[in-house]
Formats: sequence, C-alpha cells, structure tokens
Amino acid sequence: MAVVSGLLLLMLSILFVEARTQPNQFGEIHLGSQLSPISNLHSWQSPSGNFAFGFYSQGNGFAVGIWMMGQPNNTVVWTANRDDEPVSFNATIHLSEEGKLLLRTEQGNENLIANVSEVAASASMLDSGNFVLYSGSSVIWQSFDYPTDTILVGQNLTYSDKLVSSVSSSNHSSGRFFLAMQADGNLVAYPTNSAGLSVDAYWASNTYQDSKKGLSLYFNHQGFLFMDTVSKKPVLLARSSYPCNNKTTIFRATLDADGIFRLYSHCLENKTSRSVHIEWSALNNQCDVQGFCDFNSYCSGMGTNADCSCYPGFAFNDPSEKFSGCYKNVPESFCTGTKEGQMYDVITVENILFERYPYSVLDEKKENCGLSCLEDCLCDVALYKNERCEKYTAPIRYGKKDINESSIAFFKVKPTPAAPPMSLTIIIESKKSLLLFLAIAFGSVTFLCFVIAISTFCVYRDRAYLYEKLSGIISLAGEFTLRSFSYSELEKATSGFREELGRGSIGAVYRGTIPGGDRTVAVKKLEKVLDEGEKRFRAEITVIGQTYHRNLVRLLGFCVEGSRRVLVYEYLRNGTLADLLFQSERRPIWKERVRIALDIARGILYLHEECQACIIHCNITPQNILMDDSWIAKISDFGLSKLLYPDEIRSSMALSQSRGHMAPEWQNNALMSVKADIYSFGVVLLEIICCRSSIKVDVSTPDEMNLPSWAYQCFAAGQLDKLVKDEDIEFESLERMVKIGLLCVQHDPALRPCIKNVILMLEGSDDIPAPPAIAPFRITA
Ligand SMILES: *[C@@H]1O[C@H](CO)[C@@H](O)[C@H](O)[C@H]1NC(C)=O
Ligand SMILES: *[C@@H]1O[C@H](CO)[C@@H](O)[C@H](O)[C@H]1NC(C)=O
Ligand SMILES: *[C@@H]1O[C@H](CO)[C@@H](O)[C@H](O)[C@H]1NC(C)=O
Ligand SMILES: *[C@@H]1O[C@H](CO)[C@@H](O)[C@H](O)[C@H]1NC(C)=O
Ligand SMILES: *[C@@H]1O[C@H](CO)[C@@H](O)[C@H](O)[C@H]1NC(C)=O
Ligand SMILES: *[C@@H]1O[C@H](CO)[C@@H](O)[C@H](O)[C@H]1NC(C)=O
Ligand SMILES: *[C@@H]1O[C@H](CO)[C@@H](O)[C@H](O)[C@H]1NC(C)=O
Ligand SMILES: *[C@@H]1O[C@H](CO)[C@@H](O)[C@H](O)[C@H]1NC(C)=O
Repeated sequence: MAVVSGLLLLMLSILFVEARTQPNQFGEIHLGSQLSPISNLHSWQSPSGNFAFGFYSQGNGFAVGIWMMGQPNNTVVWTANRDDEPVSFNATIHLSEEGKLLLRTEQGNENLIANVSEVAASASMLDSGNFVLYSGSSVIWQSFDYPTDTILVGQNLTYSDKLVSSVSSSNHSSGRFFLAMQADGNLVAYPTNSAGLSVDAYWASNTYQDSKKGLSLYFNHQGFLFMDTVSKKPVLLARSSYPCNNKTTIFRATLDADGIFRLYSHCLENKTSRSVHIEWSALNNQCDVQGFCDFNSYCSGMGTNADCSCYPGFAFNDPSEKFSGCYKNVPESFCTGTKEGQMYDVITVENILFERYPYSVLDEKKENCGLSCLEDCLCDVALYKNERCEKYTAPIRYGKKDINESSIAFFKVKPTPAAPPMSLTIIIESKKSLLLFLAIAFGSVTFLCFVIAISTFCVYRDRAYLYEKLSGIISLAGEFTLRSFSYSELEKATSGFREELGRGSIGAVYRGTIPGGDRTVAVKKLEKVLDEGEKRFRAEITVIGQTYHRNLVRLLGFCVEGSRRVLVYEYLRNGTLADLLFQSERRPIWKERVRIALDIARGILYLHEECQACIIHCNITPQNILMDDSWIAKISDFGLSKLLYPDEIRSSMALSQSRGHMAPEWQNNALMSVKADIYSFGVVLLEIICCRSSIKVDVSTPDEMNLPSWAYQCFAAGQLDKLVKDEDIEFESLERMVKIGLLCVQHDPALRPCIKNVILMLEGSDDIPAPPAIAPFRITA
C-alpha cells in the first residue's frame, strides 16, 4: 500500500514537473522552468513548432538563442549576449522563481538573458519568433526589441536600432557589417570597423525624412519590407512573391555575414519539406560591399562570385581567411628608396578603385605617375585616373576591380629578379628619357640631385633651380644637399637681420633673400645653443638635413662660425597655424581643420618612425607649425632640442607660449620619449578643434581656462557643442576628434597612443577607445 501510494506520488510529481517546465498549449512558460543542452528539454517551442528558444550548438559548446525549425538545418534568428564565449553542456537556462531569465554557467555564474528590473510572472515563445516575458498581461521584455542580424514579421527597426551581421553562418558573434536605422530616416549599411561616415556606406535605402525619428523599418505579414512613417506614405523596400501554395510561409530579413541585406521566405510545404528562397537582395554584386575585402586587398568578380587579392607588395594577414586583409611585406620604410641601388620597382594593376584620401594630387602624365610615386618617400601607391595622379600611403581600403573603371594603380614594391611586367618597362623607358632631358637642361649636377629634381620637378621647380645655382654645396649622405653659408652672406641676405618674422623659444627668425635664386628664405639665429663645437653641430644638422617630407619645413642651409649658429629654412608665406586658428576672421572650416590635423600627424609620424634617426620634436605648438602656399601644414624647428641645453629649453619653453603644450613629464624631469610629442600634438589637436589657445584667461568660468581639462568636462557631460562655434560640424566627426585629442593628452605617457594609431584614428580606420578621465586643471606655478 505504502509502495503503491509512494509510486503514485512519484508519478504525480513527475507529471507536475512536466506540466511546469513544458509550455502549456498557449505556449506559456512558468516560473521555475529550466533548460539544459543535454536533457530532452533543451528548448521551449512555440505552439506551432516553427520557432524555439533555448540552447543551440555553437563551436565546441552552446549558445542561447531563438531559431526557426528547418530542414536540414535550423536558422538562428536571435542570440543572447552573442559575443560571449559558448557555454559547456553543464550550463542551464532558468526562468527562476524570482522572475528572472538567466543563464547559469558551469562555473556557477548567473548571466542575465533578459536584463530588466521588473519581475516576470511568465514567459512565452510566440509563433512570430518573439520570445516574451510577461508581468501579468503586460510585456516587460521581448527579444524583438534586441535584434541581432535578423528581423521577422511584426518586428520593427526604429531610430538608433541596428542589425549587426554574424561572423559566419555557423558563428553568430558580431561580424563585419552593420545596418543602421539613422536619425535622418535613412537605412544605411557600413563595415563595422569604420567610422560610419558617408564614405564608408555601401548601401542605403535613400528614404530621407525631415521630421526626425519618424521612420522605422517595418515587416508586414505579406512579407513586405517597408519604411513606415507617421506622416508620409510608407515606402516599399522589398516584397516577397514566391507562391507557397497557400501553405505557411515564414519571412525573415537578415544582414548576412557577407554584408548584404536580404529578404528570405521559408515555405513550409509539409512536415518534412521546407524550401528557402531569396526574395530580394539589397546588392547583387558582392564586390559592392565596402570592406568585404579588408585593408590592402581588393575584390574582384561578379555577382556572388567574389574573391579577394592582395595588392602587389602585400601578403594576406591570414591566408585561410581571404577577406582578412593584407599587410605590407616590405618591412623597411620607403624613405630609403631614393638612394641609388635600392630603387624600388613599380607594379601596375589596372581597373582598380579604392576609397581613401590621397595625400597629394598631381596633374601628371600616366607615365610620370608611377615615377612620381617611386621617387616619393611617402608614396605606397599612385592611382592614375581622369588624367590626374593621386598618391596614397597604405593602408588603403575598399578596393575593387571594375572593368569599367579606366584607372591604373602603381604599387611600389621591392624589385624581384623575375622579368618586369610590360608597364614597368614603359616606366623605365620614360624615366630614361626624362633623365636625358634633365641632364641636358641642368648640365653637371650629380645623378642624385636629379632624383630629387625629378620627384619634385613640377612642385618645386624653382628649388631645383636653386640647387644648381648655389655654390659651396655640401653633400649629406650622398642624398640631399645643404648649403653652408658664411655669416656675412646671411647678414647681406637679411639686410642686417632687419625684418624679424617672429621670435620663438630658441631665437628670432628673419626674412632674407638668397642672391642668385632670388628665393625668399627664413633665417633663424639660434641664441641658446650648446657650445659643443662645430662637429657636433654639423652632425645634428646632417640629421635635420636628411629629413624630407611634405609636412616638414625644409632646411636649406646653415652657418656655423665661432659661436654663431644660424639655420636657413624655406620661407612659408602663409604664417603660422596659431595665426590661422586664433584670428577669428581666418578660421578654417571644419573639413580643413581635420585635414590640417592629419598633415601635422603625418609630419610627426615621419619624425618618429620613418626617417633614419628618430627625432623627438619636444616643442610642437601652433607657433611652430607653418602654412605653405596651398595651406598645407608643415612642422618646423624639429631636431633642435639636441642642440640646446636641456635646462635652457625647459626654462625657455616654460616662459614661452608653449607652456600649455608641455607633457607633464617635462616638469618631473623624467626621461623624454616620443610620447611627449604625442601630448603636445593632443593639445594642438584640441586647439584646432576649438580654434582657441590651450590656455586662455579671458573666459567666463575658471573651468574653461585649460583646454584639455575643459574638453574632457564637455566630453564627459555630453556637451561637445560648447567647444565649437561652427554651425556645420558633423557631430560624429567632432566626437572622434575630441576623443583622439583626449587620448593624446593623458597624464600617463603609456596611455597615449603612438602616432601611427593617431593617424589611423583620424582617418577613421581605427576604433577609438573611450578616453580615461583627465584631472581638473590646477594652477601650479
Ligand atoms: C566566432 O567568431 C569570433 C570572432 O571572429 C571568434 O572570436 C570566436 O571564437 C568564434 N566563435 C566560435 C565558436 O568559433
Ligand atoms: C547544415 O549544417 C551543416 C553543419 O553545420 C553544414 O555542413 C551544412 O552545409 C548545412 N546545410 C545547409 C543546407 O545549410
Ligand atoms: C559537468 O558536471 C558534472 C557533475 O557536476 C561533472 O562531473 C562534469 O565533469 C562536468 N562536465 C564538464 C564538461 O565540466
Ligand atoms: C543591465 O542594464 C543596465 C541599464 O540598461 C546596465 O547598466 C547593466 O550593465 C546591464 N546589465 C547587464 C548584466 O547587462
Ligand atoms: C511595429 O510598429 C507597428 C506600427 O508601425 C506597431 O503596431 C507594432 O506594435 C510594432 N512592433 C513592435 C514589436 O514593436
Ligand atoms: C489559395 O487560396 C485561395 C483562396 O483561399 C484560392 O483562391 C487559391 O486557389 C488557392 N491557391 C492554391 C494554389 O491552392
Ligand atoms: C512534402 O513535399 C515534398 C515536395 O513538395 C514532397 O516531395 C514530399 O513527398 C512531401 N512529403 C509528405 C510527407 O507529404
Ligand atoms: C560595365 O558596363 C556595362 C555596360 O554599361 C555593364 O553592363 C556592366 O555590368 C558593367 N560592369 C561592371 C563590373 O560594373
């Protein structure tokens, strides 16, 4: 009897448990229910059996999500915390007695699947594919509000929502593309590792709307995907047309792992047969997806048949993943390329298109375009199209081959013993004839002077003339030439140091004219130099003389006589960056300011990493940055810190305008590193953004006095508009620039990025981490 009643009790309790853990016929799941990947109960199904919520297998473990039942494979439509590691088969999902939906891992951690403060009373896997938590009859959480890569019928994408593609069809972590429902009413697709600017977009619905936040993407029961709005007629984006013989059809719209947004229909013919149809694709050509082939590679092929290839001189980052992008497999800097015997070759690729800002655009003949790149330290590739020659530095992105594009790309590579391709021969031929022409024109100057002359032939024609005319030329490392002047020559050239152009921390600058070339120069008298003798000075000057970069002011000559030390620079007509920024009537527009910041960063990159001896500038300020005829920013006064007494610069800098630009380690007498320049750059960047000086006394509140801490305050408070007076600034661009500036002015040098990363961030190709806090400004001295 006892045994019988015991059995009965057991059966009852089993029934009870069953009843409580399986959804009832209305699909209702009660508190206390749980799922485990290895039990029979690894998912909760919707009443129709078309959708299920629970564990699905992912990698070597399991992920939590929702899938559409299918043949032969299920289709995952949603994943909880998709970027978490897969869990082991000992994990469990609970709809706990406390009304929480959570995942308990093997280690005993409890991760919320639905992050809501309200307490759930029950849950349900609906036939629409929506998993919902209820409190009473009201919905407190639904998976439809947190789309991953797919939306289903009845689900909307509203303002600020986005879909992020999966890594692949078997890995549902966040992948390489996203589709954003923007505030302007446009639905736009971008690569994930981009800044999401208009140049990054590769597909858009083009459904703009004036009244903000009115539009949303809506998916109706006929499988029509449209942009729905309160005020205007809905815009149809895509529709399904597969005749499913009046059987159940499930529609879904997915941003696929390949970056293309597609509309699918799943026709449930009968219990065992389900057919899948692509009803609509946002793009038909895989190569139109920007970033499908990552940096330094290009996409070729038509339709879905696309392939990625590295550019010449580059190799795959990961040979097993062809879209992973490529790296430059020539390790050293191209700046040695102008030396005889180390000449690089050029390999051409035709019909190439890519997206990146050229650092230089020339009106050159096709033949000279490759040559111009060959002779230019900075250039990694030149692109000839529409009779213009654009020069670029790597990395380059969004490359694709398009037979309709009549362009030629010239890539600079290390010479290979193999026979050169046809086009290379043409270049060598044309180079010869150009050399011949130049040889006749210029007579007896050395070959190396020619190399310089060729590369700068058009832009610097008059300078090449100067080289020829100058007497007493000394050759430095056989590469560039600096002229040694006598003091009296310079006295004459400047009419007795009469016209002072400016006075910096290390001495005054005078305007002068060099006879013969009639060339205006800037003559800088160094006042506080180390008296270490001529040899040391010449050695330092040699280093400076070898620098040759578009964003650095060129040293033309010098004078060393007794204790006198004078430097002769090219003269830049348009004054300093400080003049430009802080005089309101000349303030450049936002785009120009961004470009100037990049100019300066590129100059620093050259000093830090690309020239033969690393140069720490130590004194980057808007007063030391000059603007040339075409408003290109050039850094001046580099390489001088070694010529000065350390204490001299310290005190002279402390007194001069550069005080706000000094890295904190200066004050602590700590060792100087390139990171000191990053700090100064950060301050200059903030000055460029705000068009105000780093330290300003006539401000309305004391908080505003010191620019870095003020910028941080505005950033932290989300009030970046307080920093700028311009009307037409893209907020995202402003935020990026401010974040970069704040990263650079971190107190701890280790937290500042290196200049290479700064450039990538400025260009929008690197993610920008959130800047750590910056202490409020204290008045110390
Ligand atoms: C999915 O892809 C991500 C990103 O590439 C990777 O970190 C993760 O390990 C992958 N997961 C599985 C299960 O393969
Ligand atoms: C189903 O999944 C298996 C294993 O993940 C895969 O090899 C197969 O290609 C898939 N089939 C379809 C039709 O997607
Ligand atoms: C799962 O749990 C059981 C018992 O708690 C344990 O013996 C087993 O090693 C666990 N499995 C894994 C893969 O850790
Ligand atoms: C839950 O949401 C809150 C507010 O949205 C957030 O601060 C918190 O980090 C989230 N918790 C988890 C575990 O995601
Ligand atoms: C989607 O939007 C429609 C109105 O356009 C609304 O009726 C519906 O409830 C929304 N769906 C969800 C899941 O929010
Ligand atoms: C589908 O149903 C409609 C009306 O219910 C009917 O007119 C039509 O013939 C049906 N089509 C098929 C292929 O069964
Ligand atoms: C299901 O439909 C397919 C194709 O329409 C057919 O070949 C198959 O025999 C059907 N199976 C059943 C059980 O009706
Ligand atoms: C090139 O142009 C032709 C004719 O305009 C067009 O049919 C073809 O699709 C184009 N090819 C590519 C790759 O765009």
